[in-house]
Amino acid sequence: MKSVVQKEDQFELATYKKMPIAAERGDGVWIYTSDGDRYLDLYGGHAVAGTGHCHPHVVKAIREQAGQLLFYSNLVYSNARAQAAEKLVSVAPASLTKAFFCNSGTEANENAMRMARMATGREQIITFSGGFHGRTADAISATFLGNYREIGKPNVPGHLQAEFGDMDSVRAVADENVAAIMLEPIQSMAGVRTAEPGFYRELRELCHERGIVLIYDEVQTGVGRTGEWFFAGSDASDGVVPDVISLAKALGSGVPVGACLVNEDIASHIKENDLGTTFGGGMLAMSAVTATLEAIEADRMLENVKRVEAYMRARLSEVEQVVAVHGRGFLLGIEFAEKAAAVHQKLLEQKIITGTSSNPKVLRLLPPLCLQEAGVDLFVSALGHG
Ligand SMILES: Cc1ncc(COP(=O)(O)O)c(C=O)c1O
Repeated sequence: MKSVVQKEDQFELATYKKMPIAAERGDGVWIYTSDGDRYLDLYGGHAVAGTGHCHPHVVKAIREQAGQLLFYSNLVYSNARAQAAEKLVSVAPASLTKAFFCNSGTEANENAMRMARMATGREQIITFSGGFHGRTADAISATFLGNYREIGKPNVPGHLQAEFGDMDSVRAVADENVAAIMLEPIQSMAGVRTAEPGFYRELRELCHERGIVLIYDEVQTGVGRTGEWFFAGSDASDGVVPDVISLAKALGSGVPVGACLVNEDIASHIKENDLGTTFGGGMLAMSAVTATLEAIEADRMLENVKRVEAYMRARLSEVEQVVAVHGRGFLLGIEFAEKAAAVHQKLLEQKIITGTSSNPKVLRLLPPLCLQEAGVDLFVSALGHG
């Protein structure tokens, strides 16, 4: 492992604080290192490994596609793309009838905001303190978390801030120049912050009233993470479906892909050449999307998430240092009485990978959707309460 660490440190820009693990192979909830160690992965590589590492159905699909046609652009039709679009729309809330494919979460959000501006002829976008939307120019300008807007300077004009969960703060800025309200329906990086279902309902009504496009950034909450296909339309959203959902992360099980799902009204404003990207809708990524959605369905992962979440909450209630468990499904923020960094480190020493957040007391869990009770038991006993 030493030479791996040395080489990366020497030849790659040091943009991430890395764990001392050289990941070599994955299987379900496990990551195997080049030293022959095995780690329980409760972080999923930034929430990407939704179907688990190397799900056999996904691996088979991308192997077959790789041998057939790796890529051709949107200038031709493709069975792989047709299938992925049909499958994605089929699991989405009924009003979201069209997909646009791109390559990442930030790009999905850039396109979501662009579509809202095109549909309304307005420029301003409201986002929320604590929300994270990506690192490209417009998305980072929409990110009122930590110092991201500082990093992204000069910021794109046309971004307004409101307080998550606080309708008065939204009403105060939602004037006739506002094209869209965009939010992470559960604010993950901020420490897994949730809002009352009524907040989403009121946002929906305000948007209808003032001709504003509602965008859910479901880059983390989408594709089964909350135990539903999407946060949109769920009970936690009070059944509210936005006009646009942006997706990425778990959508391709690790093959980079992003998407926007839009309703007919938004779609009616988008014409040829308004949006595009070379790699969007490429065959390899599309085969991964279809196989990912099929695997979630075939393995009944949504049911699994709900059952194992309940078990996790019950087991964590026995753990004295745990003050609260935030979030939904397998997007969980475990709040400790003290700073969580030491717990994160202690778990790592016991070969369990978890995530931190911008709330120093909150440890984040974003495990593969196939995590079972046995994995929860390992985690809870590693916390010192087995
Ligand atoms: C909610 C949310 N939106 C957008 C992004 C950006 O996605 P990407 O890193 O694929 O550009 C992230 C990444 O962490 C995210 O968590």
